[in-house]
Amino acid sequence: MKKLKAIVLGAGYRGRAYAEYAKEHPDQLEIVGVADPEQAGVIPAKKYWKDWRECLEERPEADIVMVTMPDALHYDPAIMALESGYHLLLEKPISPTEEQCREVIDCALKNKRLVIIGHILRYTAYFAHIKALIDSGELGEVVSIAHQESAGFWKVAHSYVRGNWANSIKSSPIILAKCSHDFDLFVWWIGRKCRKVTSFGSIKLFRPEMMPKGAAKRCVNCPSEIERRCVWSALNMYVDHDELKYLFADHSDAAMQKLIEETDYGQCVYRANNDVPDHQTVTMEFDGGATVSHVMTGFTAKNVRTTRIALTRGEIVGDGENLDICRFDGKHVETGVPEMYRIPNRSRHGGGDFNLVSEMIRIIRRDDAEEIRSTTAQALESHLICFAAEKSRLAGGRVIELD
Ligand SMILES: NC(=O)c1ccc[n+]([C@@H]2O[C@H](COP(=O)([O-])OP(=O)(O)OC[C@H]3O[C@@H](n4cnc5c(N)ncnc54)[C@H](O)[C@@H]3O)[C@@H](O)[C@H]2O)c1
Repeated sequence: MKKLKAIVLGAGYRGRAYAEYAKEHPDQLEIVGVADPEQAGVIPAKKYWKDWRECLEERPEADIVMVTMPDALHYDPAIMALESGYHLLLEKPISPTEEQCREVIDCALKNKRLVIIGHILRYTAYFAHIKALIDSGELGEVVSIAHQESAGFWKVAHSYVRGNWANSIKSSPIILAKCSHDFDLFVWWIGRKCRKVTSFGSIKLFRPEMMPKGAAKRCVNCPSEIERRCVWSALNMYVDHDELKYLFADHSDAAMQKLIEETDYGQCVYRANNDVPDHQTVTMEFDGGATVSHVMTGFTAKNVRTTRIALTRGEIVGDGENLDICRFDGKHVETGVPEMYRIPNRSRHGGGDFNLVSEMIRIIRRDDAEEIRSTTAQALESHLICFAAEKSRLAGGRVIELD
């Protein structure tokens, strides 16, 4: 089988995660070039560039371009790569604006190129098992889904209060940045179009007026009796604990100390210039009448997604790791995990990172025009729900109808 060649634009956390696949499966994928102004060399490749445009203008010989740069740097490279004939592994979101999302997908369809979005959840054994159970028909049709994305108190502070996605203008609304994954699951599971969306959400806690009296703007300057009691303290999150270190290529003690002293990650969570909600609820109605309620909240001890799916003949209840499946007539139902997800791999997101790359390679090798078209077109659906939800939230929960 022919080995595919890929270029990585952005050697950050996501670029490194997908590039790892080439190390593990050198017979399937080779990373031939990497563009990154700061750390291209962290991914082994034959050629390096400082900027994505410099790279694409050279038109290096490759099959796939991986766009793993910040949200605002997705649209231009995506269009240029598609017009140059590359298939695209594009991190979510396609783009922060609806118009640009539509343009990217139109461009891919026109050029008959594949676009796979980094919606890694559908490539995990757990979520794919839910899909197989629904598709088996054993439990009947989906009537309603109640899904909670418990974002984890530390994760929300890291990404959506202090970090890259704290400001919707500089990056994307949180409902797009965080929840396009979930909407992708709903569209995939139900297999029909979402028609109506309504949403509420706000910043409950991370506002200047909630700052404890006497606290400082940076945690390193905060009086220790306040700092030690704050679970969001940057010292607590980045120095005392290791959970977030994997996000940084250099996570030595010195680098983490510099991070909290000099960067936005050292800011007090109540004074971080964030504008995205710390909790948001979205309600959806799909063709055929199925309804979904999605709760995203940053006030949870664990970072996990829990799901209850009510079907006409049974129920699926998932705690994020295990599924409890029941058929109302008491008959046993078990479809098992689909074949391609049975082999565990060491990549993050429950193996989803590697499974996504593997699936992309499979589709490109198979070269079926209809599969390429439908996979690419479906990428847009989740994003359109996100934009409708944000529109609704900003309009106080008005019902938004999708075409
Ligand atoms: N699918 C998921 O689960 C998931 C998780 C996290 C992030 N993301 C998405 O992935 C994307 C990247 O996020 P990340 O966490 O890897 O960020 P990151 O900051 O770790 O990496 C981004 C990289 O892009 C590089 N870059 C910036 N400008 C560039 C340019 N002009 N040319 C080339 N490279 C450039 C940066 O130097 C950096 O190394 C974002 O869009 C984010 O929303 C997806």
